[in-house]
Amino acid sequence: MAEIGPNRLETLVSLCKRRGFVFQSSEIYGGINAVYDFGPLGVRLRRRIRDLWWREMVDLRDDVEGLEAAILMNPTVWQASGHLANFSDPLVDCLGECHQRWRADHLEGDRCPNCGGPLSAVRQFNLMFKTFIGPLEDESAVVYLRPETAQGIFVNFKNVLGTSRQRVPFGIAQIGRSFRNEISTGNFVFRLRELEMMELEWFCTPGDDARWFDYWCAERIRWHQSLGLKPEHLRLRPHGEGEKAHYALASSDIEYLYPWGWAELEGIARRSDYDLRRHQEVSGKDLQYTDPATGQRFLPFVVEPSVGVDRTFLALLLDAYDEEEVRGETRVVLHLSPQVAPFQVAVLPLSNKPELTQVARTVEQELRRRFATEYDYTQSIGKRYRRQDEIGTPLAVTVDFDTLEDHAVTIRDRDSMEQVRVPLEHLEAMCAERLGQ
Ligand code: GAP
Repeated sequence: MAEIGPNRLETLVSLCKRRGFVFQSSEIYGGINAVYDFGPLGVRLRRRIRDLWWREMVDLRDDVEGLEAAILMNPTVWQASGHLANFSDPLVDCLGECHQRWRADHLEGDRCPNCGGPLSAVRQFNLMFKTFIGPLEDESAVVYLRPETAQGIFVNFKNVLGTSRQRVPFGIAQIGRSFRNEISTGNFVFRLRELEMMELEWFCTPGDDARWFDYWCAERIRWHQSLGLKPEHLRLRPHGEGEKAHYALASSDIEYLYPWGWAELEGIARRSDYDLRRHQEVSGKDLQYTDPATGQRFLPFVVEPSVGVDRTFLALLLDAYDEEEVRGETRVVLHLSPQVAPFQVAVLPLSNKPELTQVARTVEQELRRRFATEYDYTQSIGKRYRRQDEIGTPLAVTVDFDTLEDHAVTIRDRDSMEQVRVPLEHLEAMCAERLGQ
């Protein structure tokens, strides 16, 4: 297996562009910083990530309900939640030649890393994007693009409780876009200004939250591994005192070993009753829960596992990327798990002759009912295999002239490159077995 080296991120960025996973937003106008568009293959991978998260966190559980709250909310939400006052990062300006802005807590030393100039005093910069609701652009019309989906869950706590059969402990899950006017960006889709989050707010009895925190840390690490991330590239790191968000009693990050070092993939926080208490105080509405067994009334404590779709996407691609020497040539391959791969089976007629393409099309349409398939008849078979390796398709089914006689096809395995002949009547079962589904 070839060593990929420190340029792994750039290599991946170029593959993502070349193969249609990720494009720069508004590229024909020079792009916009830290905002990306996801192309045909990127969309497929992201949908799988979201679907697998939803299945694990909602569909396979009795104790979690789903929610889709709006991105725009009454601005008082952000005053109550503390985001207006506290959701900020320390900013410094270069007072030398380049006037660049930096996140103070990301700097080593007291000079501008770009031009060596002196730096301004630190000031807090709020990360929320502001806009106006309605036709008037004055202070009374200011609204914010949500920086987390969690607040939509807290303000709907009583609605969900009152309309579902849930009792504490239970959770509310949400997937959606969030926006952060990050000061320093970079590292591709790692730190975005428009991002997508998958969040669970888990409501439990006060005093029980430490136990649930441990439970969710273990569950979430297990989930990342189940997607195919290597255990040695994942670790749990408790936050130090200075690192915790304004709402957190305690928190840990699930970190991934990115090419530039360990960094956050998922955050898990003990939010106590901070958010419900603040919304109760500011709205004047009773947000307490009544225990049906004891009649006791209390504000539940919250444990929150929160992960970005974008960071999961990046970690999966980085972990899967490989370059191998095959007969003196470099083969680029994404060893993606079949459950996240954009396509699971590629169907490739050996040539463009109608007698082959007709059979291949029929084979592909049959398989499409059960698997994510791609039909490809362009270019030489070698080039088509190379493309499927590069986009991580676990199986390629080749229809050749012998197929017309023996009613069998060849299955090629992406990882071992091993090829086996399979009768058409066993093809679906064989694909299912190999894909583990
Ligand atoms: N509600 C909890 C919360 O917002 P967070 O640790 O700030 O916690 C949760 O964010 C997750 O969202 C992170 O672990 C990361 O995966 C993702 N995330 C946060 N900011 C991001 C950004 N600017 N770009 C991409 N993903 C981001």
